[in-house]
Amino acid sequence: MKPIDSKLPSVGTTIFTLMSQLATQHGAVNLSQGFPDFLPPAPLLDLVERCIRGRYHQYALMPGSMALRTAIAEKLSALYGVTADPVTEITVTSGATEAIFDAIQAVVRRDDEVIVFDPCYDSYEPSITLAGGRTVHIPLTLPDFAIDWEHLRTALSDRTRLVIVNSPHNPSGALLQRADLDRLAALLRPYDCYLLSDEVYEHVVFDGQRHATALAQPELASRCFAVFSFGKTYHATGWKLGYCVAPPELSAELRRVHQYVTFASTSPLQQALAEYMTTHPEHHLGLPAFYQERRDYFAGLLAETKFRARPAAGTYFQLADYSAISTQPDVEFARRLTIEHGVATIPVSVFYREPPDTRLVRFCFAKENVTLDAAAARLRGL
Ligand SMILES: Cc1ncc(COP(=O)(O)O)c(C=O)c1O
Repeated sequence: MKPIDSKLPSVGTTIFTLMSQLATQHGAVNLSQGFPDFLPPAPLLDLVERCIRGRYHQYALMPGSMALRTAIAEKLSALYGVTADPVTEITVTSGATEAIFDAIQAVVRRDDEVIVFDPCYDSYEPSITLAGGRTVHIPLTLPDFAIDWEHLRTALSDRTRLVIVNSPHNPSGALLQRADLDRLAALLRPYDCYLLSDEVYEHVVFDGQRHATALAQPELASRCFAVFSFGKTYHATGWKLGYCVAPPELSAELRRVHQYVTFASTSPLQQALAEYMTTHPEHHLGLPAFYQERRDYFAGLLAETKFRARPAAGTYFQLADYSAISTQPDVEFARRLTIEHGVATIPVSVFYREPPDTRLVRFCFAKENVTLDAAAARLRGL
């Protein structure tokens, strides 16, 4: 056999896996990968236990359990005033990652262009490449990580098949406002292209702001795959459950892919989430305050170090500038921080095709205070 001709030759093990491995190897406090170190709500765990002992062991319906899709529709209506038909417009997937992959495979063809904004989540480009598409990277403008509308206007063309936005934004925490969505709608209007709106941090929004969903902007909603994650909302990233909301014809195409990627997602967890969502809406309603407290706690700790925290409007990530500590490029700095100082972070350049000359690392503050305290004690030494 000839050596395999890789379809993803530039993809290796992701920086998230590498930094977590390095953290374990060196006994570092791991603030790199984005997952909480606290448990999902106890009543939800009770429900999971009950459902595991119950009769939810066979394949769920391909688009997701009807109970869960109904609960999602009710939440969209109560929270955003958005009407989505659970039968034709909501699909449960194995994490937002699967929804992103399915949406991209559903609409992107060979040589189609897909516009992404750097820094961006790492699964977008490999999914586009596997679909045969070309990724067009537009950098967000610094220091606010805002969309450069003029750049977007010139990048859009009849070759553009899909635009991907992410708000609240990983890694910067920046938010798109309703006015931004209106502007996006106006720019996309002349083109026959779709929108993928990655809204997995919809409930992690601070300082009294509200998440602006693309689903509430009618023009965008009509061309949009909006993607959400139960993992982020219920402190259960390892359950790998998410969903996609899209108009019927887009959902139908997404399901054509979904049914051959996973067919259906885990049954007992879908049932438990359906029951928990309807009986405990206070959980997601309390998340902004819950995470804002952690953001503020961690910012207070960082203020005692030479790191300079960047404004964080959403997500459970904090960007910090380390230029008062080192002039090293961020990948080297993050490695040294893990190995020599015992704190693992993510260097921001890995989210870019062409990284700017910044000195930024990303901390995940979805951690117990003792974890954040332990990290801060080490960071104070720098
Ligand atoms: C911006 C963004 N999109 C999508 C995902 C994937 O979510 P899930 O774990 O539900 O697949 C993540 C996870 O970190 C993320 O940060």
